[in-house]
Amino acid sequence: MAKLKTTFFCTECGNETPRWAGRCPACRAWNTLVEEPTARKRGGAARAGGAVRPIGDGAAPARLAEVEGGDTARWRTGVDEFDFVLGGGVVPGSLVLVGGEPGIGKSTLLLQVAARLEAAGHPTLYVSGEESAAQVRLRADRLGAGAGDVLFLGETELDAILARSDESRPHALFVDSIQTVFTPELEGAPGNVSQVRECAARLQRHAKARGAAVFLVGHVTKGGAVAGPKTLEHIVDTVLYFEGSGNLDHRVLRANKNRFGGVDEIGVFRMTATGLAPVANPSELFLRERTQGVSGAAVVATIEGTRPLLVEVQALCTKASYGAPQRVSTGFDRQRLALLLAVLEKRAGLGFGQLDVFLNVVGGVRLVETAGDLGLAAALASSVFDREVPGDAAFIGEVGLGGELRAVGQVERRLAEAARMGFGRAYLPRRAVPSGWEKGGGGEASRLELVPIDTVGELMERLFR
Ligand code: TYD
Ligand code: MG
Repeated sequence: MAKLKTTFFCTECGNETPRWAGRCPACRAWNTLVEEPTARKRGGAARAGGAVRPIGDGAAPARLAEVEGGDTARWRTGVDEFDFVLGGGVVPGSLVLVGGEPGIGKSTLLLQVAARLEAAGHPTLYVSGEESAAQVRLRADRLGAGAGDVLFLGETELDAILARSDESRPHALFVDSIQTVFTPELEGAPGNVSQVRECAARLQRHAKARGAAVFLVGHVTKGGAVAGPKTLEHIVDTVLYFEGSGNLDHRVLRANKNRFGGVDEIGVFRMTATGLAPVANPSELFLRERTQGVSGAAVVATIEGTRPLLVEVQALCTKASYGAPQRVSTGFDRQRLALLLAVLEKRAGLGFGQLDVFLNVVGGVRLVETAGDLGLAAALASSVFDREVPGDAAFIGEVGLGGELRAVGQVERRLAEAARMGFGRAYLPRRAVPSGWEKGGGGEASRLELVPIDTVGELMERLFR
């Protein structure tokens, strides 16, 4: 038998390279290149991973205004946080990838969504290649959310799935997971990069042709042998990541790409004995286990997507025992941490040279906004001085290289959220104080006492004088 032609794919980012290497030349991940056959068994259609074939399959051109479904109505699932992250509900004809680590709750979430769609009069088909009908039935019973009407199919071959879908014409098709689905037209095992891409591309065309919403589960595996969700991001319309933190029971759903809505929206859920429960008030959850009366903690008023959110940041600065001091950061960019440390050294006289610095954004939240700088500076200084930050204070503001504080957007919404959560005062850049602001002057935010600050030096004065 002739030797199969092969190439190497990165299971992390999907990059293709002709030679093996220990490290992916594109995403720099280690040990992620796997060898895959390139040949198709029959036919000579477009290579997997290449362009998605045109969606209309030979349909004639048409004026956009005359295209049916232009003003697409979304389907609300009633799982509010899910609808919210999607941008207001499910878009018919869209392909949505739900990524996350095994066991995080992807199947649970999608079965709940399926149940709600079914109840709302949208027929569903739930295809699983991972669990048997009996296992999924067990989960459905646990959820008690009327998942009994969801149509189930245990299948992994793509053509069979598409054929069943053509028969039962669901409005929403769920494929759990894309890594178990394969097409015999391609060489190679299910889960390899070309299989996963080809199957996703064909499901995309199926979604568009049928006007059905298709949801794919994609497992995130650390340096594993199967292709991760990242290798599919360019094929699908929307990418949602479902994340948790440690052993906490809450989960964060995040839009990473969304052709039909904003990105960086988050939806928060709690895993309960009867499935996932949306958390309508995320700030409350993130502040629930707040550590009060300890140095090194501060609360920042951030904006996640379109919603204000209060989160606690914790810093621990301890004497470095040997070698270069450590800089460990969870939920916050390490480069930005280095910058903040440098500014605090130079402009506020704090010495971090001999200190290990550990930083943590509580609750698995990722703080990407620079508006968190002031709170981080407060937490870091608080740990260095071992003096606590007032428990009723929230922080807003970006720190510049000169140690000056810079205004950030949507200050009033942040203040309103802080007031709503019972905070008593807010430290913020002087220029960010809303014009005409007056304590008690009306509106929720005016219950707060505002403490205007110009520089990080002044912050130290105010907090630790
Ligand atoms: P699952 O949806 O199977 O995760 P994934 O599909 O992402 O691999 O969820 C698995 C975990 O969720 C499992 O540890 C059990 C837990 N769980 C609950 O706590 N309550 C529930 O009602 C359900 C269905 C699952
Ligand atoms: Mg699962």
